Order: sequence, then C-alpha cells, then structure tokens
Amino acid sequence: MAERSANILFKDELAGILIETVNGGTRFTYHSNWSKGDIACCFPAIRREHEWAIGLHPFFQHLGPEGWLREEQARSAHVVEEDDLGLLLRYGADCIGAVSVLPPDAAGSLPDITEATATPGRTVSGVQKKLLVTRDENNRYTPATAIGPASYIAKFNSDRIDSLVRNEALSLRWTAAILGEQEVTKFTTSFIEVIGETALIATRFDRGPNGEKLRLEDCAQILSKPKGQDYAGKYDAAYEDIAAIIRQHSVRGTIDLLRFFNRLIVFTLVGNCDAHLKNFSLLETGAGLRLSPAYDVVNTALYDGFDQTLALSIGGQKVHLEAAGHDLFRRFGKDIGLPERAVDLTFAQLRRRVAQAEKIIMPPPAEQADGFRHKFKEIVDNSCLRILET
Ligand SMILES: Nc1ncnc2c1ncn2[C@@H]1O[C@H](COP(=O)(O)OP(=O)(O)OP(=O)(O)O)[C@@H](O)[C@H]1O
Ligand SMILES: [Mg+2]
Repeated sequence: MAERSANILFKDELAGILIETVNGGTRFTYHSNWSKGDIACCFPAIRREHEWAIGLHPFFQHLGPEGWLREEQARSAHVVEEDDLGLLLRYGADCIGAVSVLPPDAAGSLPDITEATATPGRTVSGVQKKLLVTRDENNRYTPATAIGPASYIAKFNSDRIDSLVRNEALSLRWTAAILGEQEVTKFTTSFIEVIGETALIATRFDRGPNGEKLRLEDCAQILSKPKGQDYAGKYDAAYEDIAAIIRQHSVRGTIDLLRFFNRLIVFTLVGNCDAHLKNFSLLETGAGLRLSPAYDVVNTALYDGFDQTLALSIGGQKVHLEAAGHDLFRRFGKDIGLPERAVDLTFAQLRRRVAQAEKIIMPPPAEQADGFRHKFKEIVDNSCLRILET
C-alpha cells in the first residue's frame, strides 16, 4: 500500500501534515507558516518535525475508539479494525480536543457514512459502548450528525454488565459531592432511541458555548504512550507520572497537584480501579492548560471479574485496592511534593465531606442486602475506613 497522508488541523485551521514513512512509521510536520504555537504537549512547535518509528504516532492513536465504537466505525466505513489511520481519515474530522485529522484531498472524497450509530465524521476514544449526541428542541438526545454540534457523550451499559450507567451516575454524583461540582464532568441520564437504551450523558468540557474547540489531551497522549497490544499501554505508568505532567504543563501546577491528590484518593474511596492514563486530561482554559474535571468514574470493585488493582503504579508498585491505605497516600502526597500540612488538611476535609455525602449512597429501605447500593456502600465504607482513618 502506498504511504498515506493526512492534513492535521488545530481548531479547524491547517497546522501541518501527517505522513506514513517508508519504514512503517509516521511523521507529523508543522507547516512552515504555522505560528500559533504547540498543537499538543507532545508536539512542541519549536521542533517542526515529530517522527514516530513504528505505526501511527500515539497522540493520534489515542484519538481513535476502542471496543464497540471501533467495530461500528470500521464496519460502516469498510476499514479494517486495526487500521488506526484509516479510521481517523474517515472519522477524525471532529475528535475529542482541538485536533482534527482530514484526508489531504478534501472532504469531497469521503464515503458518505450515514449510520447513526457510527457517529459519522467524528470519533471518541474509550472501550465502553458510546456515541456522540446532541440535544434537540424537545430535550431528547439524538446521535450527532456529520456536521453540527456534538456536545455530549452518551455511554451505555455493556452486554456483560447491566449496571454500568447506574454505577457511573452514582459514582460521579458521590465524587462531585466530595470534591465539589466543578471538579466533575456535568452529567445526566437519558433514554436514547436509536439504541433503545438508557445512557449516561456527559456534557463535553472540550467544547465552548458555541461549539468552539478547546484543547484537551489525555495523559497517554502527553506521554506519547503507544496504545499497545489489547490497549494495555494506558496502564503502563505511575501516578507519579501524572503528577510530573501536571507540574510541567499546568499553568497552576501547585493547585492542580493538590486537586489531583484529592481526586486520586476519592477515586480509590469509590472503588474506581480503572483510573488509567486516559482518564486524566489537561484542558485549555483562558489562562492556559489545567487539570480537566474528572470523568469516567466507576466503582469497578463492584464487579468480581474486574481486576481490583489500582490502574497505575503508586510508590513503585501496583497496589490492590484493599492494600491501598492511609500511609500509601500520605507517602504519595509527600513524594509528589505536597507540604505535610496540605496532606493533613486534605484528609480532614475528605473525612468531613464523606460524612456529609453518606445519604447519596444509602441503600433504599426495600433493597436486599446483596443489592447494588448495599454493595456499593460497603466498598466505599471499607475504603473510607482504610484510607481516611489513621
Ligand atoms: N465530559 C467530557 N468532556 C470531554 N471529553 C470527555 C468527557 N468525558 C470523556 N471524555 C473523553 O472521552 C474519552 C472516553 O470517555 P470515557 O473515558 O468516559 O470512556 P470509557 O469508554 O469509559 O473509557 P475507558 O476506556 O477508560 O473505559 C475520554 O478518554 C476523554 O478523552
Ligand atoms: Mg476512560
């Protein structure tokens, strides 16, 4: 196959070109007249060429979908599922964040993909079954079309687990009660007709009020971590690496480091063992890049089949949820450079907020002892005892 190329746009302006190299890698090159700075942390514009030896550069790999949406998109566009660039050439016009991938010969040559479930012309990463949607005048959420707004992400239950939507809604709600509403993505739940199921609807924070694109980069992109076999690359890092990213790239490093510390503890309290590199991102704000609100918060410890080890290593090792205690986080706070007083205050504040938020996870009186809420609360209660009590 001849080497392919793609135009790379930043906020809908042509910033450079991506080409496949004869050696089987890819190279992103800024256009000579691009003067609007870095399009991503891993592509500092001071260097005009960014080469990747094998396959598609990880920054672009991570724009593409995983699981269900990858299958849908590959099938609708007649692209093999493994062809990351092929998928982006068809669906990369509107990605999470501010970077777009377009065929070099303009949109006229694109096959007309109309299947609603494939989110034509757009893509979003992640494993879970999801669609980009928009809200119509009757407040119904419908699949985004190729052009026009796509302000929300709808996430569905999986075939195997029918409580994911409920779980994520409760986990997000509890997390927001502990950390503050502004720390967590806005969300609701709603029935989506084309799929015939209820979804968790997250409001995208990488789009402005008029749909304008804001830079949003996940930590796998920032570290240029290849997605790897079976998408395991996002687990191959340490929480200390995320702290280092924040120190290096956030315009409010000290504040964001403390926000990250709080967030990581609360994720652990809520039994979320899937807080991997792609579940932490930096978001463009008026002042510059900041840690984005939290998203994809799920009490994975509820599911026996799910690995109950924290997604990334901490203090040099992978730690099982039940071994993640007070001392581990106290040491972690110190290691990432937080003053002891800030760590003390964090624990004190979390204890207070957890007590105030208890009613959110209280099981309804009619629920059986092995019901969803009972199990959810038991996991949270146990984690709180281990982590918040000294
Ligand atoms: N509220 C939001 N605003 C903007 N982008 C978001 C938002 N929520 C999620 N994203 C982006 O969409 C991607 C996929 O979403 P999410 O992590 O919720 O899906 P997932 O399939 O559960 O992921 P995973 O593969 O981690 O299980 C995220 O990695 C992030 O880039
Ligand atoms: Mg995710």
